[in-house]
Amino acid sequence: MSAVKEIRAIGVHDYDNWLDPKEFTYEPQEMRPEDVEIKVEACGICGSDIHAAKGDWGRDYTPLAVGHEIVGVVTAAGKDARHKVGDRAMVTTYQGTYPSGKITQGGYASHVRVNSEFAFKIPENMDSVDVAPLLCGGITAFRPMMTAGVTKGTKVGINGIGGIGHMAILFAKALGAEVTAISRNDKKKELAEKLGADHYIATDEEDFSKKHEDSLDLIINTGSSFSEGNVSGVLNLLNPYGQMIYITAPPIDEKLTLVPFQMLMNSISVGASAIGSPKDIDYMLEVASKNNIKPMIETIDINEANVKTAWERMLTGDVRFRFVLTGYDKYFK
Ligand SMILES: NC(=O)c1ccc[n+]([C@@H]2O[C@H](COP(=O)([O-])OP(=O)(O)OC[C@H]3O[C@@H](n4cnc5c(N)ncnc54)[C@H](OP(=O)(O)O)[C@@H]3O)[C@@H](O)[C@H]2O)c1
Repeated sequence: MSAVKEIRAIGVHDYDNWLDPKEFTYEPQEMRPEDVEIKVEACGICGSDIHAAKGDWGRDYTPLAVGHEIVGVVTAAGKDARHKVGDRAMVTTYQGTYPSGKITQGGYASHVRVNSEFAFKIPENMDSVDVAPLLCGGITAFRPMMTAGVTKGTKVGINGIGGIGHMAILFAKALGAEVTAISRNDKKKELAEKLGADHYIATDEEDFSKKHEDSLDLIINTGSSFSEGNVSGVLNLLNPYGQMIYITAPPIDEKLTLVPFQMLMNSISVGASAIGSPKDIDYMLEVASKNNIKPMIETIDINEANVKTAWERMLTGDVRFRFVLTGYDKYFK
């Protein structure tokens, strides 16, 4: 199969009207020896898509197709690519520029063309719709656990039970941790328990911080903002020498306020983590495949109206827990 000349995509045309995504076409970056072209089958909708589409991180360019949790089949491969035509692979993507100066676009599109070093072979026993959310959300949740050496019995708190938070519960349980789900209210208690959480803390409950203080070794903060995150109350849940790792990527002007003495007196640390290396991603996929990790998803066919609906519902937290765009063959026929 030969590479396509034009890619069809759905994206933001005007940041002030970002909730009105429309179709556009673009000419892809020239195919380099290391590149593969992937015909998209499924793409998860990450909280980062919302930040980028809204312009939370800046207004780089339009039109902008977001989407980086992409699964599809390789339809063209350069001579040095590490995948061949027919392989099922995933990629990471948008808000970037190639050395040629051409801008990058994401997976709300018929195809993506990428460096094959950043495309990963999907384990045979995993469905494309289940694996898509793992490709950003899953690795982002998993890597802080790898770094902290989470093992059987580690007391792990997951703060923020959304797309990434719910996957963090699944991975922490697979590693044998004792897991506490922490959310802004009690609305997700039942589902968090269904996902395997051993305990649940609602941060709108009076005295939650005092009641559960010194109970966790590691907190992974997965909220999309710190604005309602009760950072100080949540930090109080850490054992001495505990650590909070945030993966939160808030609007660019948001600040994180810490009370130095609170950290000092318990020797606690606060750090951050971004996705994972290609090696980490291969390992995460192996763990997910062996443990049959399947995110809780809602599939929705790709088209302009549905992208708008999914984004609007994401804004109000009305999804349990990850949208995955499907129906690519129907729309991009
Ligand atoms: N570090 C990385 O490499 C990386 C990679 C991907 C995504 N991210 C970032 O990770 C964050 C979460 O992504 P996601 O896909 O999981 O998003 P999501 O599905 O929208 O979930 C975010 C969760 O954050 C909590 N939340 C919402 N508004 C909040 C507020 N104002 N203050 C405190 N908490 C709030 C909610 O949990 P509760 O209702 O349970 O409180 C919500 O379910 C985003 O900022 C995203 O950009 C980072």
